[in-house]
Order: sequence, then C-alpha cells, then structure tokens
Amino acid sequence: MKIVVTGGLGFIGSHTVVELQNIGHDVVIIDNCSNSSQEVLKGISAITGKTPQFEKFDLREKSKVQDFFKRQQDIKGVIHFAASKAVGESVQKPLLYYENNLGTLVYILQELSQMEEASFIFSSSCTVYGQADELPITENAPVKPAESPYGNTKQIGEEIIRDTCRVHPNVKSVALRYFNPIGSHSSAEIGELPLGVPANLVPFITQTGAGLREELSVFGNDYPTNDGTAVRDYIHVVDLAKAHVVALERLLKGNNKSNYEVFNVGTGTGSSVLEVIRSFEKVSGKELNYKIVDRREGDITAAYADTTKANEDLGWKSKSTLDEAMASAWKWEQKIRNL
Ligand code: WQD
Repeated sequence: MKIVVTGGLGFIGSHTVVELQNIGHDVVIIDNCSNSSQEVLKGISAITGKTPQFEKFDLREKSKVQDFFKRQQDIKGVIHFAASKAVGESVQKPLLYYENNLGTLVYILQELSQMEEASFIFSSSCTVYGQADELPITENAPVKPAESPYGNTKQIGEEIIRDTCRVHPNVKSVALRYFNPIGSHSSAEIGELPLGVPANLVPFITQTGAGLREELSVFGNDYPTNDGTAVRDYIHVVDLAKAHVVALERLLKGNNKSNYEVFNVGTGTGSSVLEVIRSFEKVSGKELNYKIVDRREGDITAAYADTTKANEDLGWKSKSTLDEAMASAWKWEQKIRNL
C-alpha cells in the first residue's frame, strides 16, 4: 500500500522506510532536508533495492501539503516524523517549534480528515511524562507540564490528534511515545547524522571515540541512581522502526481498539550514562575520554518504559541489547568517518 513518511530521510524515519519497504509497502517520503540529506535515499535503496519516491518541500507550506494529497492518489497511511526535536533549541526558538511541529500536524490531519479512511502514526516522546512518579512508566502515567517547548509540542500534538479522531472516525491514529533511540541499521548504510555538536549522549560518545570530540562531559553524577548518573531507556532504532510498522499494520487491518491509541516504545530497561559508556568501551575496545560535570538543566533523573501494552496489543517487543545497539552505533560512526 502507498504510505507517506514525512521526515523519511531522518534518523528514525529512514529506518522505518526500510522496514516498510521490507514488507512490500510503496513509500513516498516528504522531507525538506533541513536536518537530513537526500543522500539517505541511496542508503535506503542499498538496503532494500528499492528507491522510495521522494518529494522535497516544507510541510509548513499549506498549499504544498494540499497539492501533494491532491496529486498522490490512494494514500493509505501517513507516518509523521517531520518535526524539530532539539530540546535546548526549542527553549530559544519556541515559535519555530510550535509552527513546525504543530502547524504541519494540523495541515496533514486536515487532509486525512477528508479521506474515506486514513491511518496515522505520530512520533511522540517519553518527554511527555517529565519525571514520572513511578518507574517503569506506563501509558497511564500522568502527562506533566512540559519542561520545554519541544516536549509541549508532543503533548499538544497528541491532544490535537485525539480531538481530531473524536470527530473524524475515518482517521485512525496511534501515538508512539519513544524513549531514547540509538544505533543504526546492521548494514551501516543508514544511521544517525547529527548536525553540528550532538546534543544526545550516544552520538557524542561515538564521535569522541572517533576522535572528533576531545572528551564526553557526563552531566552530573549526583542523581539518586545506582552510580549517580542519570538513567534512560535506550532502544535500538531498528526495533523502534519495527514498532511503527506493526502499529501501522494494526490500523490498516482494523485491529485497533479505538481510533486513537498510545503506546510506549522502549526496551523496559534503564541504563545509566556510565553503563552506556562501559557498553561503548566493551564493544569498541576503546577507552572513552570523559569527565563529570554539573547536571544539564531540565534533565530528569530516570525514565524507562513499561512496554506491557505494546507487547500485548501490538505483539511487539524490542530485541536488541544495549551492547548490540551501541555496537551498531559505533560501526556506523566508523563507516562515516572512514575509520
Ligand atoms: C541522555 C542522558 C544526559 C549528552 C532527549 C529528548 C527526547 C529524545 C531523546 C527526541 C541524559 C546525558 C547527554 C552528553 C550526557 N529526543 N548526557 N552528556 O535528554 O534523555 O532525551 O533526546 O525525541 O525527547 O528529551 O537524551 O541523549 O540528550 O541524554 O551526560 O553530552 O545522557 O544528561 O542523562 P534525553 P540525551
């Protein structure tokens, strides 16, 4: 079936395009290449043997969104990744985040609401929970006031979808609340390509290992955790991509329990920053250069998923270990740096 993937040249988007093609879907990517490269198409086709259709335009241009849906007949589903996602940047540029992350969502939903039937998968985030009161975090955990405009766009985005589906039963949606995606496809043909200095832990680790960065700063070791460093749920990006495919198939086959569902997508296991560093050192055979510094403002102590709902309702479970995910991240870094 024809599936539109917005932001399909991005980190999670490109891995999801591969998995969609692997089960025979006809994928159309929309991407404005503001945080990705058209070269990623080559990586996708190197893996699957098929080059997805690609249209380069900005989803903030409503007329272009309308024109696209008018031209592209028989679209069965949309997986919506296209969004700005840097927490720190969102604090400095809130309007850019509200326009880009929410304006585009509204334009897409306006098109889907006109279709006879549409399946929609939304890229949400565990950020909506803030620091949850209980761990592991279930989907029933309260959504707390967002710590950043980025997190707020995910919370508001979910509400926009929920309200849309309430009055448009022809639109069936799933919001996937990602934990921390890391790693890359085993082929090392696609992977994470952070622009500039990485904000996220794992690309900063692999770039330090590759000699691009002097040393990793560990943001705080005075958290109430086993080793004092903050804990997160690091999920292999291919496992995350597969969760999108099973969620989409659930909607396409009409197996959904309601036309707006939410699932946590994580491993269910928490790992501290020091444990991630040890994992890198184990899989790379290299000693990582790091120092302990103050906490990063806005960081929470710990977050890891209760994945029971995705396991039971989607029949999905993450498969890769932290070491396997880290090994794939390192393999990708070595590939792109010709090491
Ligand atoms: C992980 C841990 C840092 C960098 C964010 C977004 C989330 C999602 C993933 C988009 C934390 C520590 C990090 C460094 C460090 N983004 N760290 N030194 O903040 O959990 O989640 O990115 O969807 O929505 O909130 O991920 O990788 O930035 O940090 O010590 O140089 O690593 O303090 O404990 P985070 P992260």
